[in-house]
Amino acid sequence: MSFSFSLNATDGAARTGVISTPRGEIRTPAFMPVGTAATVKAMMPESVRQTGADILLGNTYHLMLRPSAERIDRLGGLHKFMNWDRPILTDSGGFQVMSLASLRKLTERGVTFKSHIDGSKHEITPERSMEIQKLLGSDIVMAFDECPALPADRTRIAESMRLSMRWAQRSRDAFGDRPGHALFGIQQGGLERDLREESAEALKEIGFEGYAVGGLAVGEGQEAMFGCLDYAPAQLPEDKPRYLMGVGKPDDIVGAVKRGIDMMDCVLPSRSGRTGQAWTRRGQVNMRNARHADDPRPLDEACGCPACRNYSRAYLHHVVRSQEMIAGMLLTWHNLHYYQELMGDMRAAIAAGDFASFETRFHALRAEGDI
Ligand code: GUN
Ligand code: ZN
Repeated sequence: MSFSFSLNATDGAARTGVISTPRGEIRTPAFMPVGTAATVKAMMPESVRQTGADILLGNTYHLMLRPSAERIDRLGGLHKFMNWDRPILTDSGGFQVMSLASLRKLTERGVTFKSHIDGSKHEITPERSMEIQKLLGSDIVMAFDECPALPADRTRIAESMRLSMRWAQRSRDAFGDRPGHALFGIQQGGLERDLREESAEALKEIGFEGYAVGGLAVGEGQEAMFGCLDYAPAQLPEDKPRYLMGVGKPDDIVGAVKRGIDMMDCVLPSRSGRTGQAWTRRGQVNMRNARHADDPRPLDEACGCPACRNYSRAYLHHVVRSQEMIAGMLLTWHNLHYYQELMGDMRAAIAAGDFASFETRFHALRAEGDI
């Protein structure tokens, strides 16, 4: 069986469909929990599945440094290594090098850098990124790109985008013929509409199984990001999945889906769960807050996750304040459950042609605030 994408329904620019892979189906719009170092932190893989996730994200950068792609390959690949047999998408490394590594040197060939773990020297080129993602056994491989930090001037954004497009061609050439596996191109171009268009044309000319919108959620703010998403998804092929990288908060996700995005990933639900932050239908709730100390009610009475079914706000507050490990476990589970329920609600609303009223209800509940 090979890799394919079929749309079931659209409502305005919003779309719902299914990506089929040999490792299972991905219902879209899809949210991908982040499993950077071969684990979604604080979660067992079977628990991640129970939240409703169809696919996880892994990172080339982290896994090449520790425990190394070659070791994971010897041990039977990333799926077996981490006990997740469903699809995995891996990011290509460049973005993480820029945010985490030191002594980075960027050339036409690729990027050299020192590891943030032990200072050892490494190089990633488009060819090496494709090799690593193949050794990991990734189902959806991302092209190797560069994402300039915003704000940057137009000349810098244009040069960086054109380098990423040359790297996209080298990624396509090095990826080769791998039935059942997909290679996604990454659109760059900052907030410049014509550069986004030039990038989209270059990627479509090369040809990919899916297309990502990269270079957003890097400090530009929601209004500017939505401004870009008002045109960027439409520049990409209609019959292929569109993936917005590194987004976001629940309201960012709803706005992105409304504008034609099919896939997203973000550390927010898992990372913020480990710092005592919960995300609910009514917005963000800080479980460290003393107002929860005597509260016998669940975090969200309408939520079916274990944190909400079996524990009180008072208990969650206590374990967060006491820095007990179960605090990160329960709040991560709740947050991932909430995110997946949100995606499911959006898929149903798009299928019913009802996205506008979904969006009205989404914002109305949040405006009421936490109970
Ligand atoms: N994660 C968030 N944004 C980006 C991007 O622009 N490129 C890559 N490779 N990963 C990302
Ligand atoms: Zn819950």
